[in-house]
Amino acid sequence: MILAAGKGTRMKSSRPKVLHSIAGAPMIDYVLEAAGRLHPRSTAVVVGHQAEVVAAALAGRPGLTVVVQEPQAGTAHALLTTQGLLGQATGVLLLLSGDVPLLSATTLKSLIEHHLSANAAATVVTAVVEDPRGYGRIIRSGEQIAHIVEDKDASSAERGIQEINAGIYAFRLQGLYETVRNISAQNAQGEHYLPDLVALYRKRGLRVETFTVANPDEIRGINSRVELAAASRLVRLAKNTALMESGVTLEDPATTYVDRDVTVGADTVIHPCVFLEGRTTIGAGCEIHSGARIVNSQIGDRVTVYNHCVIEDSAIANDASVGPFARLRKDARIGPHAKVGNFVEVKKTTIGTKSKAMHLSYIGDAIVGEGVNIGAGTITCNYDGTAKHQTTIESGAFIGSDSQLIAPVTVGKDAYVGTGTTIREDVPPGALAVSAGKQRNIEGWVEKTRFLTPNWAWGPSERAPERERLRSSARS
Ligand code: UD1
Ligand code: CA
Repeated sequence: MILAAGKGTRMKSSRPKVLHSIAGAPMIDYVLEAAGRLHPRSTAVVVGHQAEVVAAALAGRPGLTVVVQEPQAGTAHALLTTQGLLGQATGVLLLLSGDVPLLSATTLKSLIEHHLSANAAATVVTAVVEDPRGYGRIIRSGEQIAHIVEDKDASSAERGIQEINAGIYAFRLQGLYETVRNISAQNAQGEHYLPDLVALYRKRGLRVETFTVANPDEIRGINSRVELAAASRLVRLAKNTALMESGVTLEDPATTYVDRDVTVGADTVIHPCVFLEGRTTIGAGCEIHSGARIVNSQIGDRVTVYNHCVIEDSAIANDASVGPFARLRKDARIGPHAKVGNFVEVKKTTIGTKSKAMHLSYIGDAIVGEGVNIGAGTITCNYDGTAKHQTTIESGAFIGSDSQLIAPVTVGKDAYVGTGTTIREDVPPGALAVSAGKQRNIEGWVEKTRFLTPNWAWGPSERAPERERLRSSARS
């Protein structure tokens, strides 16, 4: 059971707290994933505040039941709302919190083992932390846990206690709901606190155990943006460490931002300030230079991504290179050994093996064959104001610089488009297409008009008087 109905007031957000993301995945995904690794008989999430938004985000996950808690009257009340679901069940209930995302499955397994071997009615996960502010404190009598006091209800002596409640519990299902129903709301927040179960169980002589985690970072609760950032940092650090251990070079792990689900092959070198996001995969032996941002894209082996490329929803095949300052988006597919250079935007386009577009181009809605050369400043004019049209450039074609290809249009195999050509009609294979008129030179035009200042008059300041003379004679 995962509790996720609370308002998350301290986030100061219109977005439900558990949907805030940590290293590219919503907080609650981490909790669901850890829970999933235990292969539970069933999984339920209690939602309440912005229930529809959270439920929509969870939709389509197999084996997940969503229970709505209304109103949100505290963590004990949240558990009670699931009585219809589990009231008759036996076995162990593992209760997790949607805002405690860093718990590992290993820790949860140990918790359950501990709970079962101690034959406890309840086991509370605790941690000893440097700064216990905000957490419920564990009050012991002797070795035994006696009760839990919430931060807001604690005396100043109790606030000094550094052992805190992680908000994670294992419960014996039998008899659980009967007792939870008796939890009152007489406290600073007027809520039904689940931690109060400890005192009730102890009064009835039931066995309550604690399970103290070795690494307190695992049970960090996220209540504010500051805590969210701190958790993200930990997740990213762990991700980066795992990458380095698997053979990836990170020149500066502190400024390398890799989302949880990204994979990177061995011997890839990642320079500082690189962002690898979403469902990105990077092959082996690649080099990703500083400032690159790669989102939901598949990069093959031995690919070079030069500085400051932005690559989204695209694929780059083995041995290709892109950038610096290339923009690939919406299903750009760069073929093996192809090169996309600086200030080139590629959208919804396939670029074939060994083809090149090295400078200042827009290539959209196009199919580019193999061994094609696309000159500087080439533009596929894919949009007529109403619809998008396709450009096809067949293998071996050469597109001269500063050409426009007005789609729909095809440049045939091995065809040659002269520099500065506007292509409105298909170019047959092997043909040369030119559209510019014949060049005219008008001799002495500059001297005659004196309208323009000749190039030679510009430049160093010692030419300023000459420049002024020319300007004033042009004015007169
Ligand atoms: C809770 C614990 C505290 C513990 C801390 C650990 C209580 C009363 N206190 O405090 O002892 O140290 O977690 O992180 O349980 N929720 C609901 N319905 C509600 C209220 C809350 O589903 O009516 C959910 C929240 O969405 C959240 C979880 O329960 O996922 C914990 O609630 P929160 O308000 O964050 O409790 P804390 O003050 O952090
Ligand atoms: Ca919390």
